Amino acid sequence: MASPNLTSPAPNALPADLAVCIRNLDYHFGRGDLKKQVLFDISIDLPPGQIVIMTGPSGSGKTTLLTLIGALRSLQSGSLRVLGKEVVGLGKHQLVEVRRNIGFIFQAHNLFASLTACQNVEMAVELVGRFGNKRAQAVDMLTRLGLADRVDYKPEALSGGQKQRVAIARALVNQPKLILADEPTAALDKKSGRDVVTLMQILAREQGCTVLMVTHDNRILDVADRIINLVDGALASDENLDTFVASHDPKTLDRRMFIL
Ligand SMILES: Nc1ncnc2c1ncn2[C@@H]1O[C@H](COP(=O)(O)OP(=O)(O)O)[C@@H](O)[C@H]1O
Ligand SMILES: [Mg+2]
Repeated sequence: MASPNLTSPAPNALPADLAVCIRNLDYHFGRGDLKKQVLFDISIDLPPGQIVIMTGPSGSGKTTLLTLIGALRSLQSGSLRVLGKEVVGLGKHQLVEVRRNIGFIFQAHNLFASLTACQNVEMAVELVGRFGNKRAQAVDMLTRLGLADRVDYKPEALSGGQKQRVAIARALVNQPKLILADEPTAALDKKSGRDVVTLMQILAREQGCTVLMVTHDNRILDVADRIINLVDGALASDENLDTFVASHDPKTLDRRMFIL
């Protein structure tokens, strides 16, 4: 079966319907003699409800691209529409508005040490102004991530993997339309990693949430609708899961990804 061309929008899909629409994006760090280009002419469309895994060697620009899509950095050239809003050229305050609709799962947990797991998650609920049942929402999300018996613990009393799951609960509790995740399962055991991606699948299916996740964790590759590969700051391939599997030497793929 021919694989669909995932880089082009469907003929009737308007950019406004896409969760993310990137056109001809370049990005440089530094200025003058120190100026270094790290992203080159990136164009990608992410439709609602799709789970996309991004792979690529260290230093290829994956985290930089995630932070740009997440409106965590300003940028001045090309076009980057996130949840219907053009991000190129926005000022600091407008970028903050865009971020409110995005769930971030980055490696540094940034939990507040003086707050319990539950209070850390409740803070995210407060940010969107839903104070009423914030504890119930936080407990529910922590429970779905296997932390029901840890809700009132402070970070210092949690393992690395448990802290990571609190950070994930915080990112997901408001049911964002877009989730950006950088190696979310790297610190987790097999079962916890599976719980996290299963939850993302449910959000994608039930709420049309779009997930863009950087990972090299073969154990979870099977959740991807699509796999994009970044090499030296450029998009090297963009394939659906079947094509990806068919086009890679089985010896170089970890067999576990197919039997989970
Ligand atoms: N804040 C920064 N200032 C300057 N260069 C940076 C900065 N962050 C990343 N880079 C450089 O940009 C390139 C891409 O980095 P990154 O996006 O972190 O790659 P990846 O996540 O794929 O490992 C690397 O060469 C890195 O050294
Ligand atoms: Mg990175």
